[in-house]
Amino acid sequence: MIPFAEKPLFTLNIFTKEPLDFVTISLIEQCFSVKTTMKKIPERNWLRASNIKFSPVKIDKFTITSSFFANSIKQDKFSLIIDASLAFGTGHHYTTKFCLLLIQSLKKREVNPLKIIDVGCGTGILSIALAKLFPSRIIAVDNDTHSVEITKRNIVVNKVANYVKVYNSTGLVGNHLNYGAKYDLIVANILYKPLKTLMWSFTKNLSDKGFLILSGLNIKQARHLKSILRQFGFKVVDEKKEANWAALLIKKIVRKRVSHSIIEGL
Ligand SMILES: C[S@@+](CC[C@H](N)C(=O)[O-])C[C@H]1O[C@@H](n2cnc3c(N)ncnc32)[C@H](O)[C@@H]1O
Repeated sequence: MIPFAEKPLFTLNIFTKEPLDFVTISLIEQCFSVKTTMKKIPERNWLRASNIKFSPVKIDKFTITSSFFANSIKQDKFSLIIDASLAFGTGHHYTTKFCLLLIQSLKKREVNPLKIIDVGCGTGILSIALAKLFPSRIIAVDNDTHSVEITKRNIVVNKVANYVKVYNSTGLVGNHLNYGAKYDLIVANILYKPLKTLMWSFTKNLSDKGFLILSGLNIKQARHLKSILRQFGFKVVDEKKEANWAALLIKKIVRKRVSHSIIEGL
């Protein structure tokens, strides 16, 4: 048996409804060579606890609050009420913040996408922000069923349910999604590996003048993605970087047609 290290290298917290029995504990200890301790934690309303934890955050025009703080903040058309529960996306993480900044930068460029897809919607934060900025048809998808339910609830709370349709789907593939659909804006704040897997479908499903926002990357991954973008027919037009996180605003490379008369004149 491997001896237990004097000082633990890491601590893993496991939350269970019932105390683990003696056999399970000794199996865990033997198999993983770890020491376990058990303690009873008091009953809490975890949803409320997470709502209290996330203080309001301002990202350019948007203010994002949990319902716990909503009454203490003046609400306007750029206010988002997001209760995260088990989903990701409160606006506190750089990856979400970058997407919200890049989405607003499109509005400033007077880009008005009509058909949008938010791949990996989490709490629905980006879809809700998009619905508040653009009079568009927005599709929000996530491969996690909890996130789908939470997004459905949040779009109602934020009164944008008429603009956003939410589906359980991996990437841009699903019975409910139109296989050949062209989107004017695709936003995907998911991790590097799934992003890379989805690159061809981004190429196929982005309209020629459309924009693609990719987030969830560290600086090194963003650099690598930038180096392979050309082979998918893309170029970077803007990017956000902070604290080793990065997000890219991307467009299709427009290939200029060479007219026959010019070729003939050569
Ligand atoms: C980092 S969270 C982003 C949430 C939110 N869009 C935001 O910007 O805060 C990534 C989400 O993508 C989902 N996800 C990961 N890979 C996916 C895939 N291939 N297709 C659909 N959803 C995916 C995860 O379940 C998770 O909810």
